[in-house]
Amino acid sequence: MKIAILPGDGIGPEIVAEAMRVLGALDLKFETETALVGGAAYDAHGHPLPESTLKLARDADAILFGAVGDWKYDKLERPLRPEQAILGLRKQLGLFANFRPALCYPQLTHASSLKPELVAGLDILIIRELTGDIYFGQPRGRRTAVDGHFPGAEEAYDTMRYSRPEIERIAHVAFQAARKRSKKVTSVDKANVLETFQFWKDVVTEVHAQYPDVELQHMYVDNAAMQLVKAPKAFDVVFTGNMFGDILSDEAAMLTGSIGMLPSASLDKDNKGLYEPSHGSAPDIAGKGVANPLATILSVAMMLRYTLNQNAAADRIESAVQSVLSAGLRTADIWSAGTTQVGTRAMGDAVVAALAGTTKTITTKT
Ligand code: IPM
Ligand code: MG
Repeated sequence: MKIAILPGDGIGPEIVAEAMRVLGALDLKFETETALVGGAAYDAHGHPLPESTLKLARDADAILFGAVGDWKYDKLERPLRPEQAILGLRKQLGLFANFRPALCYPQLTHASSLKPELVAGLDILIIRELTGDIYFGQPRGRRTAVDGHFPGAEEAYDTMRYSRPEIERIAHVAFQAARKRSKKVTSVDKANVLETFQFWKDVVTEVHAQYPDVELQHMYVDNAAMQLVKAPKAFDVVFTGNMFGDILSDEAAMLTGSIGMLPSASLDKDNKGLYEPSHGSAPDIAGKGVANPLATILSVAMMLRYTLNQNAAADRIESAVQSVLSAGLRTADIWSAGTTQVGTRAMGDAVVAALAGTTKTITTKT
């Protein structure tokens, strides 16, 4: 097993370092190789996703990714911005299925901005299509009244688009994931306004005919945004396109108390995957040693479960995280009165120590 390690920018290197220590504390054999990505790669090689990094990611069985981005790159032309690295990896490696679980840990119920009774026991799974939609639609650009170039542009445009096979393959992923949970899918669209999402709704309905045991509900995205804060526990699998999924997954993450807790998996058709925290590079706290490494550590657990078929090891990491939370340890983002505030490194230390105390297979989840 070979794991490509791409720490990236901002807090990326700090949180990935802790995740690697956790990985190293398991009794498993694998090779790792690290490469630059994002702004760090731009600074060193003039490109956010150098060929060598792409090749490493392509050849690996799984990829552990930190985060990319910093305001200092905002002025660069779009193809050179750090964000293009993660978008390029998703597209070039065909990582079309993005899993973003939003789980409210019992120890953190009070960290949510919603009333505890609304979020206690919350366990939803956002499935976001990741390689289509307005993120990748052509044409895109800016027009001026004069010569087709900015600055001084008068108009800008991006194209929203989905093909039938793109919708079909992610719909199968969503229905199959629902079969392992409570068999309920909410497909989120904007069919009342957008042709692309009327098509989405039609194709999802067609695919659903093959899954009569799964309940399908369609919901407009504005209503979904509202229902997520009104009654989040009414959802189980929330299934949507790239743009709406970007927005709703941040919203869902915050329901659980902190986006600093949530892992994600981006899978290709063979379950090869890129694993990253749901949060970004947080340049404002980079290098201070205060970032929460748990989302990245939990991303390692997802990697073990989805790509490397090591369920028992994944369970061990998740129980170790639970026990650290139960012991009252909190990074600044999830701290509350009566708990102990720790930094990035100490949180990693605590998970590694807790791992030593875990036994195999405590819970089994998919
Ligand atoms: C995410 C991020 C990315 C996205 C950015 C960094 C390109 O917000 O993974 O949700 O928009 O997909
Ligand atoms: Mg996002």
